[in-house]
Amino acid sequence: MTENWQEAGFGLYVHWPFCEAKCPYCDFNSHVTGYVDETRWRDALLSDLRHQAACLPDRRLGSIFFGGGTPSRMPPDIAAAIIAEARRLWTPANDLEITLEANPTSVETGRFHAFRDAGVNRVSLGVQSLRNRDLRALGRTHDVAQALRALQLARDVFDRTSFDLIYARQGQTLDDWRSELGDAVALQPDHLSVYQLTIEPGTVFARRHDAGRLPGLPDDDVQADLYLATDQILERCGMPSYEVSNHAVPGRECRHNLTYWRAGDWVGVGPGAHGRLTWGTERRATRAVSMPEAWLGAVDANGHGLIEQSTLPSDAHADEYLIGALRLRKGLDLARLNRLGSIVRLDALDTLMEEGLASCHGTVLRPTARGRALCDSIIAYLAARSEPTCDRASHKLSS
Ligand SMILES: C[S@@+](CC[C@H](N)C(=O)[O-])C[C@H]1O[C@@H](n2cnc3c(N)ncnc32)[C@H](O)[C@@H]1O
Ligand code: SF4
Repeated sequence: MTENWQEAGFGLYVHWPFCEAKCPYCDFNSHVTGYVDETRWRDALLSDLRHQAACLPDRRLGSIFFGGGTPSRMPPDIAAAIIAEARRLWTPANDLEITLEANPTSVETGRFHAFRDAGVNRVSLGVQSLRNRDLRALGRTHDVAQALRALQLARDVFDRTSFDLIYARQGQTLDDWRSELGDAVALQPDHLSVYQLTIEPGTVFARRHDAGRLPGLPDDDVQADLYLATDQILERCGMPSYEVSNHAVPGRECRHNLTYWRAGDWVGVGPGAHGRLTWGTERRATRAVSMPEAWLGAVDANGHGLIEQSTLPSDAHADEYLIGALRLRKGLDLARLNRLGSIVRLDALDTLMEEGLASCHGTVLRPTARGRALCDSIIAYLAARSEPTCDRASHKLSS
């Protein structure tokens, strides 16, 4: 039988932790620094990559994702060196997807050709809003005109282009959002990530919010309306959601992120990166040192930046698959869940279907449009109503 990780693919994530400025809503592992020792960073990222690949030879690599931070601020020759080394260490898929997250400022767009020559074939641009007032409120360093220029250039240079928008912003009404989303669709992207603004603990926005200085955030009902409007408008325009926050022209879905949602395997390189690696029946989680200087020090000392390499409990893979796949329109394959050692109680499936929240197609459970809007609740409901299969129970008893 196909090994379970193979059903969901194998990818490489590379984290570049630096940004021009820290956005007030952002809790990603991103830092502002005056100086980056480029040679040291290139050598350290390559060392981390080689160390982890040595534990995981003989894989077919389906995707590479440069995330951040702002990886479009990374010197393109570092990206080129990492891509070449990854191609050497594993067998690359013919259609290897290589994504770069980029901010739409001129520093980054000026490097687009060099990134393409390095092998990048997909760009995900952090546009966030098509309204200047809102870009300022989000603390972004670009304006709408720059975003549009960056988008045009990205489409000229790369095979595939996506952009990110954040909604549920201060003072945003349903009509505002419909009009802005219409402007986004008119730009004809092949992929759109549309995230609801989250007030993350520890951010500047969280402090302002706690002090009552972030007025006009949409309440739960308006947020739900904004979500449903997004789903409907983008579906009508030929970009259905394939994941709760991600929409694509069919065939243009982000393969790398699908590996996460389908609980495949990936190697995480760079500060704060996480990974998931499967050997036979053992699944391991890796986590790297977060702070950039400390990560460099760890690589100098050990040849890699990992701070944690733990074997996950036997039910973790099934849980991760259930949580990820229920975010997908294609849904959760109960047969695969079973192979991973877990079954969902039949009465729970019946309840979801009676409530119009999901439907069954062969062995696949698919959330309906209403179900996708209530995705977190459905996941919690099913996670609490799934149990080990007999096989895994006996495996547990015998191990
Ligand atoms: C790693 S981040 C940023 C990539 C890039 N540096 C940028 O800012 O454009 C990826 C995406 O997460 C989203 N994001 C980050 N923080 C968020 C928050 N608090 N709420 C909603 N979306 C958020 C943004 O849309 C962002 O483009
Ligand atoms: S949102 Fe992007 S640019 Fe802003 S701090 Fe976070 S990673 Fe950096």
